[in-house]
Amino acid sequence: MFVAFDAAAGTCEVGCWLDPAAEGRGLITAACRTVLDWAFTTRGMHRAEWHCRADNARSAAVAERLGMTLEGVRREAWPYDGTRHDTQDWAVLAGEWRGGA
Ligand SMILES: CC(C)(COP(=O)(O)OP(=O)(O)OC[C@H]1O[C@@H](n2cnc3c(N)ncnc32)[C@H](O)[C@@H]1OP(=O)(O)O)[C@@H](O)C(=O)NCCC(=O)NCCS
Repeated sequence: MFVAFDAAAGTCEVGCWLDPAAEGRGLITAACRTVLDWAFTTRGMHRAEWHCRADNARSAAVAERLGMTLEGVRREAWPYDGTRHDTQDWAVLAGEWRGGA
């Protein structure tokens, strides 16, 4: 899904959640390619972001498979269940998008 979609600014953020039983089949990468391709090709967006907890290796792997670049780490930015977690910021620009190859 689009967690954020600012058409005027040309920026959006993609997020996802998969049932554990469906992990490891490439479903999320394929689905995200479809929504990102729609954002860049049909809607003319300029930048798509992906935010994940720094210790979420499966999520970071999806961002990488989508051709995104790790732009930085926001330290202790996400408070959850009594702990503050680092978050990674990934993004891909329209000029870099080739269907997430
Ligand atoms: C993050 C999350 C969506 C990743 O799911 P995923 O199934 O690992 O991601 P993909 O759909 O890209 O699948 C890739 C896996 O499928 C495998 N795969 C199998 N068949 C495949 C195919 N035909 N094409 C592509 N990949 C395939 C890949 O080898 C890879 O497995 P591996 O990581 O064990 O090597 C999932 O772990 C999740 O929902 N986690 C909880 C919520 C969460 O963290 N959301 C993200 C917050 S930012």
